[in-house]
Amino acid sequence: LLINASNKLGKQIPETFMGVFFEEINHAGAGGLWAELVSNRGFEAGGKNVPSNIGPWTIIGDESSIHVSTDQTSCFEHNKIALKMEVNCDSSNSCPLDGIGISNPGFWGMNIEEGKKYKVVFYVRSTSRIDLKVSFVGSNDGVKLASTNIKGNDVNASTWRRVEHVFEAYATNHNSSLQITTNEKGVVWLDQVSAMPLDTYKGHGFRNDLFEMVAALKPRIFRFPGGCYVEGKWLRNAFRWKETIGAWENRPGHFGDVWGYWTDDGFGFFEGLQLAEDLNALPIWVFNNGFSIYEQVNISAISPFVQEVLDGIEFARGSPTSKWGSIRASMGHPKPFDLRYVAVGNEECDTQQNKFIYEGNYPKFYDAIKRAYPDIQIITNCDASKEPLNHPADLYDYHQYPKSSNYMFNLAQVFDHASRIGPKAFVSEYAMTGKESGRGNLLAAVAEAGFLIGLEKNSDLVEMVSYAPLFVNNNDQKWNPDAIVFNSHQVYGTPSYWVLSLFKESSGATFLNSTLQTNSPTLAASAISWKDSINGKSILRIKVANMESQTVNIVIFIEGLESSVHLSWPRKTVLTSSNPMDENSFSNPNMVVPRESILDYAGKIMNFQIDPLSVTLFDMTMY
Ligand code: AHR
Repeated sequence: LLINASNKLGKQIPETFMGVFFEEINHAGAGGLWAELVSNRGFEAGGKNVPSNIGPWTIIGDESSIHVSTDQTSCFEHNKIALKMEVNCDSSNSCPLDGIGISNPGFWGMNIEEGKKYKVVFYVRSTSRIDLKVSFVGSNDGVKLASTNIKGNDVNASTWRRVEHVFEAYATNHNSSLQITTNEKGVVWLDQVSAMPLDTYKGHGFRNDLFEMVAALKPRIFRFPGGCYVEGKWLRNAFRWKETIGAWENRPGHFGDVWGYWTDDGFGFFEGLQLAEDLNALPIWVFNNGFSIYEQVNISAISPFVQEVLDGIEFARGSPTSKWGSIRASMGHPKPFDLRYVAVGNEECDTQQNKFIYEGNYPKFYDAIKRAYPDIQIITNCDASKEPLNHPADLYDYHQYPKSSNYMFNLAQVFDHASRIGPKAFVSEYAMTGKESGRGNLLAAVAEAGFLIGLEKNSDLVEMVSYAPLFVNNNDQKWNPDAIVFNSHQVYGTPSYWVLSLFKESSGATFLNSTLQTNSPTLAASAISWKDSINGKSILRIKVANMESQTVNIVIFIEGLESSVHLSWPRKTVLTSSNPMDENSFSNPNMVVPRESILDYAGKIMNFQIDPLSVTLFDMTMY
């Protein structure tokens, strides 16, 4: 491998190069990164009409002592369903000591940990000033982890009262439920029941461990909130940003019909923008452009969708005195969010029929956005890598989910001959899928590393990259594989996640001129350099992805350095394992992770052995 380490011959990789794509899929947000513990907190998931299904809430008590139903008496305008609980027993006539009531298991069990604090909020009214007991209880053993009595003295049947209590748990159970019970006769209505850990990232509601996993990738861009989630199968189930902002109690929630689950929309448009800011990444808003999978709005009816987008941009970055910017300000963020990119939908340009409608509607969005916000970069999802677009765009979206590792690896060349005239490319979704990739194994990861090396090489055209999907709750895998796997209390990265971590310094780095002299089609290599932000020293990084099942010997020649420059502190980081199918798991989260070792020699000519099926980094400090 011949490397010219002179910056003069190198080219700068865009600052925005490595990013993440967050989609509400696999319970990534609801029951995932969004730390809300209660599922279906407003009892709306069963629909707007009564009687409504209250699942996953369950009833504690038998039919003779309790009758639970729903009505439309909520004090919240956008979600009228409330829960009605008629209690026919009391402590003197057969109510169990612990009472009867309702229980919520959260998303496959709430994680309640000893010494940690949890804020429970709910709304209540009742006929006879009924006392309630609120408790966190182990779902598997019934053991109480925290509990309090809420006096019913100031509760009456005609006025809703807001109850808030902070619990400190005195025991741990990763599979707990929240119970609201009573042993007094009468009728109680409940609505908007929330339980949040107090300790979330900056108090912004993000689960700390999952936030840290994403932050560790140093993403520079943050695409959200989907994917197909933005479209819905039907337009009525699409992501409508206006219904996801403001007070959480007044968000109607919606059924994401593509991935098949209800979300209370605690993680809404505002939270997506906030998360991008917390990650120090630029948000990229994928908006609904009048398309769902089975329904499309044509040009005659597109205006309300265009207005919705303009309003959304104003919400994100308008002045705090503007109509929509003032709502953002009232939510605690007077300063505009740094929204510079929007994407006109997701994957609609993929079929001939949709392409026709997409291209018809697209100028309406493009012109209106550019007129109001000339600096905003607009992303089309028509692929410009093969033929020029028939419409203006700053970037085009590009997705790839190959089912073969060789195909994935060879996609490294897909942009080699793509036109450099016109919009830049945003590879916003890629991953190896299918049988060969298992649930995210080493083979998939090495193939993806080869692809990323190709994207680095083409980073004069490819401005941004993100893997997909980012998250999976292990209890609801709608898409396989994914980068980060979690349950109520554990998390690990798949090998693909660890590959992303090996590329996190590429954003803004100098891509060095290098030539890999080999006939092997299964080897890819690149070299970058950047200045360490802490000590200001330049670092040279060489990456090699080896798809071979054998060890490969390589010689690295480094030229172009001034004679006064020394190479020091050589380190080697290797991602490999004994079997291509090896995966990480909750019981063995570190089976396939990068392992670093210190080398004892750095020089301008070096011999190395590259492990079979591996991704290897060689880092050296230049001073
Ligand atoms: O990443 C999963 C899905 O794949 C996305 O929702 C969609 O854009 C693509 O088809």
